[in-house]
Amino acid sequence: MSVKTYPVLEPAKQRALIDDATYQAWYRQSVADPEGFWGEHGKRIDWFTPYTKVKNTSFEGDVSIKWFEDGVTNVSTNCIDRHLEKRGDQVAIIWEGDNPYDDKKITYRELYEHVCRLANVLKANGVQQGDRVTIYMPMIPEAAYAMLACARIGAVHSIVFGGFSPDALAGRIVDCQSTFVITADEGLRGGKPIPLKANTDQAIEIAGRGGVEVKSVVVVRRTGGKVNWFSERDIWYHQAVATVEADCPPAKMKAEDPLFILYTSGSTGKPKGVLHTTGGYLVYASMTHQYVFDYHDGDIYWCTADVGWVTGHSYIVYGPLANGATTLMFEGVPTYPDAGRLWDVVDKHKVNIFYTAPTAIRALMGQGDAFVTRSSRTSLRTLGSVGEPINPEAWEWYYHIVGEDRCPVVDTWWQTETGGILITPLPGATALKPGSATRPFFGVQPQLVDAEGKVLDGAADGNLCITDSWPGQMRTVYGDHERFIQTYFATYKGKYFTGDGCRRDEDGYYWITGRVDDVLNVSGHRMGTAEVESALVSHDAVSEAAVVGYPHDIKGQGIYCYVTLMVGQTGSDDLRKALITHVRKEIGAIASPDKIQFAPGLPKTRSGKIMRRILRKIAEDDFGALGDTSTLADPAVVDDLIANRQNRK
Ligand code: PRX
Repeated sequence: MSVKTYPVLEPAKQRALIDDATYQAWYRQSVADPEGFWGEHGKRIDWFTPYTKVKNTSFEGDVSIKWFEDGVTNVSTNCIDRHLEKRGDQVAIIWEGDNPYDDKKITYRELYEHVCRLANVLKANGVQQGDRVTIYMPMIPEAAYAMLACARIGAVHSIVFGGFSPDALAGRIVDCQSTFVITADEGLRGGKPIPLKANTDQAIEIAGRGGVEVKSVVVVRRTGGKVNWFSERDIWYHQAVATVEADCPPAKMKAEDPLFILYTSGSTGKPKGVLHTTGGYLVYASMTHQYVFDYHDGDIYWCTADVGWVTGHSYIVYGPLANGATTLMFEGVPTYPDAGRLWDVVDKHKVNIFYTAPTAIRALMGQGDAFVTRSSRTSLRTLGSVGEPINPEAWEWYYHIVGEDRCPVVDTWWQTETGGILITPLPGATALKPGSATRPFFGVQPQLVDAEGKVLDGAADGNLCITDSWPGQMRTVYGDHERFIQTYFATYKGKYFTGDGCRRDEDGYYWITGRVDDVLNVSGHRMGTAEVESALVSHDAVSEAAVVGYPHDIKGQGIYCYVTLMVGQTGSDDLRKALITHVRKEIGAIASPDKIQFAPGLPKTRSGKIMRRILRKIAEDDFGALGDTSTLADPAVVDDLIANRQNRK
């Protein structure tokens, strides 16, 4: 297969912080002498007490990961206070509302006051260092204030994406025993209100039954929509911040004190609370933000993610603000009021660096080029992609049509667990191949192994592991260190296993091929098949369910559900609709099944194990080569599944 290569663009090379020779030299040093390399780069953030120890990590035995462990710092002072002298009047956050006429700008000095006031509100309501605070917010500046206010007083935030249902929110509140919630009356997306406060009220009731009593809820007034009010518990944000001091001293945090928990889906069980800590995370988030996007002082930077996902944590809030950047926060959706919105916003705010997900690119590509070409986009310099493999067609469209062949596309591979970008091009250093995340960032040592763990050298296709630690790595699964060890370090002893398949080509470039476990990637959102299955079987009519992914033009993967009903139940379109509603209630709209097939039986081995390989093939409408079905307990079920498949081409 011949692959097109795009050489480094000359203007990008000219202005770049890192050219290819520097990349090579720094990379070599970073793996030969991690202590020396990170000892130097750890100084990019301010420390109250400088560290003397740099790296103390082991992927063996109990797995222990510590970076800069005797250093003392605070994330909020690094993101705010240290910029005040030089850039107090510079805009820190540009907020672009759902409605195109709604926007505002918040300077670093204003950010300082907002964050301090909210931090004081948290303190006044009893939140202490180490307490978990749940944030369930729309994309408004107060979401960033909430994160930074927690960081300021050493509270640990757990953000739950606003698209999750009350049940999902309750599960996360209970798991981390969070008795404090920050939310808004309603969110607004694409002109439609989202009842965040009402969802929170329900979640608090459910969490109460699960043994966690939420004591206070701070509510931001976003839309003015009607909400129920519980005066012993609920606090209006605008009233509370008006009555406290505008200064709040930062807590002195040890480098390994927790900063946040973020729940993410795995191949088994309920979502895991990924725990990130303070010093190493901030060093890594800020350094990747600077070099991967070739960020220069004064640039306007826009990442379209939601703060409910890790991309929003590292590359809307913490990385950019630690670098003193102007970061744009967008409340809306790419297709409202029409499919030209993103490019209108680029022109309106003169965005230089733009970072989005392949699913958005594919959706907009389908709307025609005119929505793009009506804008000028002359401010754009670097384009980024994240969240799922980007297919070469979408990459080419992004590069040629959006970027007019002027802007490098950085296809950044990473995960909630990795805290920051691990495999990526650098704009002034890396020749690009559409669909490849290219080369490892400094300090990152990828390795490909086969199913038995044999290390594969040279050009090869295998499972992607990372052999040594980097500062942004997660430290544990909140409350379950054993699960951390089992999930990431048990499959291949002494290595961090990513769960992704990957190919390395003859130039040493990495091509992520997607998950090799039972995790789906739907529109860049991670979804465990087990979670959707357990939502389905919790419906009265369902006896058994098996969920697999199938290729979807826009979403990347769609959710295909095989459902076996209880005796006496019959499959119908009404029941399909009821099951979809049920899954949305249990998890949220992002888990909505795309296809439901009622199946009298599922293909199982004689020992009762569901053969997902066969189900995947049928969902892909590729049942010509089902492989070996001789181990099935009842081969006839396969004929029925094929005859009634929902995904015919
Ligand atoms: O399969 C990979 C895919 O997204 C997974 C991580 O999902 P999550 O933790 O939600 O984080 C998403 C944002 C960092 C990975 O295991 N993935 C992410 N970025 C890419 C990708 N797959 C291919 N190319 C990428 N650039």
